[in-house]
Amino acid sequence: MSLSTGGDLTDLRYLRSADLEPLLQEETGLWRQRFDWDFQSSAGLVRRFVDQRALDGFALLERGRPVGYSYTVQDEHKGLLGDLYVSRAHWSLDREDRLLGATVEALMRTPWVRRIETQLMTLGPVHGRALPAGRCLRLFERNFMQYDLALPPLRERPSSLTRVEVEPWAERHQEPAARLIPAAYAGHIDSQINDQYRHPEGARRFLHNIVQYPGCGSFFHPGSAMAMDRATGEACALALTSLVAEDIGHITQLCVAPGRRGEGIGYELLRRALEAFRGLGCRKVSLTVTAANRGAVALYERVGFRTVHRFCAFVWEGF
Ligand SMILES: CC(C)(COP(=O)(O)OP(=O)(O)OC[C@H]1O[C@@H](n2cnc3c(N)ncnc32)[C@H](O)[C@@H]1OP(=O)(O)O)[C@@H](O)C(=O)NCCC(=O)NCCS
Repeated sequence: MSLSTGGDLTDLRYLRSADLEPLLQEETGLWRQRFDWDFQSSAGLVRRFVDQRALDGFALLERGRPVGYSYTVQDEHKGLLGDLYVSRAHWSLDREDRLLGATVEALMRTPWVRRIETQLMTLGPVHGRALPAGRCLRLFERNFMQYDLALPPLRERPSSLTRVEVEPWAERHQEPAARLIPAAYAGHIDSQINDQYRHPEGARRFLHNIVQYPGCGSFFHPGSAMAMDRATGEACALALTSLVAEDIGHITQLCVAPGRRGEGIGYELLRRALEAFRGLGCRKVSLTVTAANRGAVALYERVGFRTVHRFCAFVWEGF
């Protein structure tokens, strides 16, 4: 099936991973340099699925060679734009727009897809740009923040935890965590960005992906924890962490039940996660946070995280 648009866009299924290799190598270098992330495992998945002809997406060709690519994944009613990258030597807003436009259009034509989400950290400037299906699009500014583990350890606040028991993450926490996430994100801006945060069923899939797949790094048990109320045994807070490079940690999730905020539990879980990464010899820890989530940004800045990159989350609905 040919999906070429304007001559130099082609279906990813026509390519072999070897055709994409220079692009994947370059992208791996960029992720390392800009975010300190090791992109190898994500690139490995792209190679594998491209060779199986199992990845939906496009490549942008210049004299027959790919200079950009994008891929998508379908999750029931939702289309996820997994990645979109244009080689720096061939980068232009126009090239990126063509790839983005074709990818979003293809998702919109996919049966059952009612919603499209993406967070493209390497995409060029978004503001003032004519984005595809703009009528159906909402943008959310996000901060990529980093913490330098050369900073002295944070002060312990054991009094914050007198009413809760912090347990290292274990398989049995999946179910209480899947109920805690929708409660913590009810009416929250992040549940507009990721609709998996709205129901236990979605949260279960989110947790499964975070623990099993390398998109957000490899799951890091020692930094991940669940806080339970000592009296009732109810789940009150959760921290999930991963390793995004050998020496770089990432906070993939931090949330506290609405009735338990302001007790210092979020701070303590974050502090413990940072200490677990320090114990492993990591250099830095990163996280992403919605810029409008003032409480969380305040917490991260207060402990010493700094915003080093801004990007946008995209959500298309109502097409
Ligand atoms: C963000 C969140 C994890 C903070 O957890 P918490 O247990 O309430 O935070 P703490 O009580 O440990 O607060 C620690 C510090 O964070 C800051 N802070 C926390 N919430 C804040 C708020 N709403 N406004 C301003 N500052 C806030 C304060 O500076 C506080 O320092 P202090 O104790 O010295 O005053 C919690 O509000 C939450 O779960 N929110 C919903 C989910 C979410 O947004 N998660 C982050 C996604 S990136």
